[in-house]
Amino acid sequence: MDPVLLRQVCRTYHLDSVGVPALRDIDLTIRANCFTVISGPSGSGKTTLLNLIGGIDRPDAGVGANSGEVIVAGQPLQALSDDALADFRARHLGFVFQNFNLLPVLTAAENIEYPLRLTGASPARRRERVRELLAAVGLADPVDLGGRRPGQLSGGQRQRVAIARALACAPALVLADEPTANLDSATGAAIIALMRRMQREQQVSFVFSSHDPQVLAAADDRVYLRDGRITALERSADTTANSSGEGGGGMGGPSAGPLPSRPAIPSGDRPLYSADEGLQ
Ligand SMILES: Nc1ncnc2c1ncn2[C@@H]1O[C@H](COP(=O)(O)OP(=O)(O)O)[C@@H](O)[C@H]1O
Ligand SMILES: [Mg+2]
Repeated sequence: MDPVLLRQVCRTYHLDSVGVPALRDIDLTIRANCFTVISGPSGSGKTTLLNLIGGIDRPDAGVGANSGEVIVAGQPLQALSDDALADFRARHLGFVFQNFNLLPVLTAAENIEYPLRLTGASPARRRERVRELLAAVGLADPVDLGGRRPGQLSGGQRQRVAIARALACAPALVLADEPTANLDSATGAAIIALMRRMQREQQVSFVFSSHDPQVLAAADDRVYLRDGRITALERSADTTANSSGEGGGGMGGPSAGPLPSRPAIPSGDRPLYSADEGLQ
């Protein structure tokens, strides 16, 4: 199943009497088990698009055939009340932010555990999952950093915690808004490699917003936005995605066709932690 389907989605912000059209007529299918990047200049609508997919915001209410639709993991989000949407987000989505958004009073392990508490996982299950994720994101070895608070961790380590937290409840989809924007390029590259590996190992779809060339190079699919519209879409032909691909949902804007090859970011079935991902 395609994890995300947007049909005729518009979002207009209203400032006093002026309407700011942040997204216009977005038609987009995001493929399963892919690394999809939404790119475009500042103000092009990337964050707005992620917020709509993540159920943090809702599209304009159109009339009849003009009403936009956001379907995530098979669920039309417009059918959910605000409470049901919050529950859906907790169970099916993970979020990674530019400024990490960790809870400063909790340790790394407690931050990762937090969404598991919200969804009612048992203490044993929580302990097991936290241990597994700390190891998977490289925070357990050589030194166990799970007991540290975010203030005692580097930016790269904080983003590792945030990635582990995003994956805690085994979501269908992880959304990341400019996840490398606050990191130096070496740390950013390490974080991208980590997300790439986690995406494959955990069989989850990742959607990023970014204008970082390293993130673009690592992507399977690239969606280019400008002034709230999709101006181009590139899809990698060489992917393990199990969706119907191009025919899936009607695309907005021209397509640049399949990419020639898999990007040069480390991949494959490596065990838990890889030196390529650095220790930043
Ligand atoms: N809360 C808001 N109120 C009014 N306008 C907004 C708000 N958020 C974003 N915008 C406007 O919507 C457009 C898209 O913004 P955004 O989605 O943040 O773009 P990006 O993430 O690509 O920088 C911009 O013109 C921005 O100024
Ligand atoms: Mg933004």
